[in-house]
Amino acid sequence: MQLPNHVAIIMDGNGRWANSRKHNRVFGHIRGAKVAYDIIEKCAQINLKHLTLYAFSTENWSRPKTEVSLLMALLIKHLKKEKNKLINNNISFHTIGDSLELPAEVQALLSETSEETKNNTGLKLTFALNYGGRQEIINATKNIYKAIKSKSIAESDISEELFEKFLQSAFLPNPDLIIRTSNEKRLSNFFLWQAAYSEFYFCDKFWPDFNFSDFELAINDYNKRQRRFGNIENQPSLSQNNFISE
Ligand code: FPP
Repeated sequence: MQLPNHVAIIMDGNGRWANSRKHNRVFGHIRGAKVAYDIIEKCAQINLKHLTLYAFSTENWSRPKTEVSLLMALLIKHLKKEKNKLINNNISFHTIGDSLELPAEVQALLSETSEETKNNTGLKLTFALNYGGRQEIINATKNIYKAIKSKSIAESDISEELFEKFLQSAFLPNPDLIIRTSNEKRLSNFFLWQAAYSEFYFCDKFWPDFNFSDFELAINDYNKRQRRFGNIENQPSLSQNNFISE
């Protein structure tokens, strides 16, 4: 299986999965978290380089307090429980998003997990937590403005390459493949800048039903795509004269 360099996943449909089974939405998140860790471990085992999971968006705070608390509790539980799995699988752990707004215990565990896995050389796993693509772009813009004001860069230095360096995700390559589950076809404020040339794969299943075979289907589908990055494929040459005489 030929692998993309960076796969990002929008894990969607936990609530609907639970509701379709007449359960509370939180059951979907509990099952969804288990699925996430299963996919992480499998991705490490197949030597994927980068995996980013959209785990909590800046907009998710508007959910009922009990649901937000459960999501934070799940993060805490799994960060504690799965740390050794990350270490044993040579995974380094990273986050993007504004972690300072997360509960103190979550912040502490995120730092601890990042620190303890920082020398691992296998899968680079990134959780997008309290992440929003628009906010990331606004923060980059503010920091570029400050850098110009302090004369550490000039306006003429601004380029796509420079802008990317000011994004929080600067340590990551742009995602080659973005998978979204639950048959919704939108970005939901995820990787707005980074997804400019990403390939998208939409899976009908709700996230709690997603498994590694579905992941492999996504990779196989990706491998059939022709990525042109705005360019064109090799075309038979077209004489200008023929074109004009038509
Ligand atoms: C979308 O389902 C999922 C989320 C809002 C967060 C993703 C969270 C998890 C998979 C669980 C925690 C993760 C880890 C890694 C510990 P939804 O609630 O929007 O579903 P719906 O669209 O059916 O309502």
